[in-house]
Amino acid sequence: MSDPSTQFLQRALEIATEAALAGGAILQTYAGKVEAREKGRPGDLVTVADRAAEAAILQVIQRHFPDHAILAEESGSQGTRSSELLWAIDPLDGTTNYAHQYPFYACSIGLLIAGVPQVGVIFDPNRGDLFRAATGLGATCNRQPIQVSPTPTLRQSLLVTGFAYDRWETPDNNYAEFCALTHLTQGVRRGGAASIDLAYVACGKLDGYWERGLSPWDLAAGVVIVTEAGGTVTAYDQSPFAIETGRILATNGAIHAELSQELLKIQPLPPDCLPRSS
Ligand code: IPD
Ligand code: CA
Ligand code: CA
Repeated sequence: MSDPSTQFLQRALEIATEAALAGGAILQTYAGKVEAREKGRPGDLVTVADRAAEAAILQVIQRHFPDHAILAEESGSQGTRSSELLWAIDPLDGTTNYAHQYPFYACSIGLLIAGVPQVGVIFDPNRGDLFRAATGLGATCNRQPIQVSPTPTLRQSLLVTGFAYDRWETPDNNYAEFCALTHLTQGVRRGGAASIDLAYVACGKLDGYWERGLSPWDLAAGVVIVTEAGGTVTAYDQSPFAIETGRILATNGAIHAELSQELLKIQPLPPDCLPRSS
């Protein structure tokens, strides 16, 4: 299966689409009506909507593919993480936004085949945007082909990034990178939903994205969509992307080397320049 047939990829894409649309519908049913609670680390929120959307997504995937392994954010693993066929599922990417009724969140569903993301669907229920891709089949938004931007230089770029929930505990918190790249570009956005950040690189609304501290369910779908839209996805140092590292550099390709070089130069901010968090 490390070389899946087109027919299998198309089928998996259709099932992932059905699942993402089901998950998105549930998110909108609960939107504005649920309370969030911290599920472990400060700031890492969960709501009943996360769990209900995940249950609906799992029901669709497991009905069609009962033998495939699953790695889902809220319910964890079913089967082993190293399985040949592993679905990585984030039922609500952007829970902090959702909890604050900031309408920027998505369902993100990716299929890893032999450890490589090969099918991806991201559904943003607020805009009704359905991003899809599978290896060799191209990338679409609402069934229309998409491609990355032609922006040629970092100076002309609009980037996006994010900050992981361990940002209070580690000097590797991405603050220095955010500062430096804000200074070197036309801007750096912080969307709060890694999957939509990647989808927007894929469709050319943004030119590049980097982030650390992510999980496979944040990345799997978006990696396929950016790659199939003609973008480049690697580690910060341009070595091959490895999903378990949680670190990604995804761009339109044209700015990739320049952005990588700048990221590698940056030193963390000294911890004493930050206010104490309570
Ligand atoms: C988070 C979002 C955010 C990113 C965090 C993720 P969640 O996912 O994608 O943009 O910066 O690192 O954990 O918790 O909302 O599913
Ligand atoms: Ca997420
Ligand atoms: Ca989530």
